[in-house]
Amino acid sequence: MVNLDKDLIGHEFSLKDIIVCEGHSDFAVEDVDLSTYISRNIKINIPIIAAAMDTVCESEMAIALALQGGIGTIHNNLSIEKQAQEIERVKKYEAILIEKPITISPDEKIANLDELIDKTDYSNIPVVRGQKLVGMITKNHYLMEDMDLSVSEKMTKIGNNLVYVEYSKIKDNVVNNIKQLFKSTIVSAIPIVEYNGDLKYLVTRTDLSNQEKYKNVCRDEKGRLKVLAAIDTREYKERMEACDAAGADSFVVDTSHGYCIYPEETVRFAKKTYQDKDIIAGNVVTKEGVKYLIDAGADGVKINIGVSDICTTTEDVGIGRPEGSAVYECANVAREYNVPCIADGGAKSPGDILKYLTLGAPAVMTGNLLAGTDEAPVKDDLSKSKGVRVYRGMGSPKAMLEGGEKRYFLGGKLKYPEGIEKEVPYRGSVSEWVPLLMQGLKQGMQKAGGRNIEELYKVGRIVPRSLLGYEHGIKPVGIE
Ligand code: XMP
Repeated sequence: MVNLDKDLIGHEFSLKDIIVCEGHSDFAVEDVDLSTYISRNIKINIPIIAAAMDTVCESEMAIALALQGGIGTIHNNLSIEKQAQEIERVKKYEAILIEKPITISPDEKIANLDELIDKTDYSNIPVVRGQKLVGMITKNHYLMEDMDLSVSEKMTKIGNNLVYVEYSKIKDNVVNNIKQLFKSTIVSAIPIVEYNGDLKYLVTRTDLSNQEKYKNVCRDEKGRLKVLAAIDTREYKERMEACDAAGADSFVVDTSHGYCIYPEETVRFAKKTYQDKDIIAGNVVTKEGVKYLIDAGADGVKINIGVSDICTTTEDVGIGRPEGSAVYECANVAREYNVPCIADGGAKSPGDILKYLTLGAPAVMTGNLLAGTDEAPVKDDLSKSKGVRVYRGMGSPKAMLEGGEKRYFLGGKLKYPEGIEKEVPYRGSVSEWVPLLMQGLKQGMQKAGGRNIEELYKVGRIVPRSLLGYEHGIKPVGIE
């Protein structure tokens, strides 16, 4: 376990109070392995989880981050139906074989098809009668004046140039066989049918080429991107049911006070009802809090209260704990149960991530480091100027007006805000920013002597840092 300097033992410390010492390394920066566990069974390829915040993570962020190896938590400041749709979007994205693709009947009007394409953003729609594939149609098949025609009048029909394939003919080497098929045609999607002509899967050219472009993708066993669903402690039964049906890999019981009967009940229900799922829960800052959630059944525990720039819980409500001590103590205890801890909030640079990992949390949840990217949802009412993005706490007045108070379990009408809005640097796209961030982390791990996250925890040494030392520290990098 991490070697904590004797001057820190018995003291409370934040990330600013500490620094990771150099350690011996016999490997290069590019040899560092960032793969990790965020719960007993959920593995990801880089230690980054997008926070369940309405200015951080919806499907666009979750997709972009999973393509880089991380995982997103779809926030629950959305109706149950909308949250499930966002999860479904992630799960349907770029699975090479798209199960149950959106279809349309040949008798539908083109106007209905047009609405479906706009609503779902899917551009290749198989046409089926019952289960049977009868054609394919895309936006390029029709014009504005065709709205009253039926789909069957405009689609490419089976027996008339439709490119499709029977599953049994390709199943021995699906990816290669599909690649060959795409080489011999210009269509952008190919339906795959059962021996009796029923539609089984759809494969798109974009998904296939993305497969080659991204090497580190965080996928489930069916090849779909992994994604988490934030769950509150009120309407949790309905929310879990919908998010499970949409394919969420795990539930994150997201509260500002995890050492409490409401999250405990929610975790117990989740474990009993969804036995094949890992459940992540939080937030807590003490060993008692961690044990409490693990006893309730949590497979991963989120640590920290009030440490983010957008949090005011510490100052206004008087509750919290310096994040260094919280993560150090909680991770130590959780490791006895083989349960990973997630350091949630407060990271503003690769160096902060390095400190959290060295202290024992195998993964970091962040809003701050992702809110400035192109993929973060932008709220119209938050100002946006060149070089800067604004994000907001879920307990901020505006987020609470839209339902964010669920995280804070505020009964009654009076709501004392526990969050604010804050500017973060604009970072460009996730595909530019996250690899840079991870490169910074790898450089730190190489200097600390940790070839992977577990080794970092074993060999890492943490020492105290003077205030003067902090002031001379390196500022976070932003892409202008
Ligand atoms: P960062 O620093 O990464 O932190 O932006 C993200 C985490 O902050 C928590 N969160 C809040 N905490 N008031 C709080 O005290 C809030 O309004 C608030 N909104 C989010 C949450 O744990 C998130 O993952």
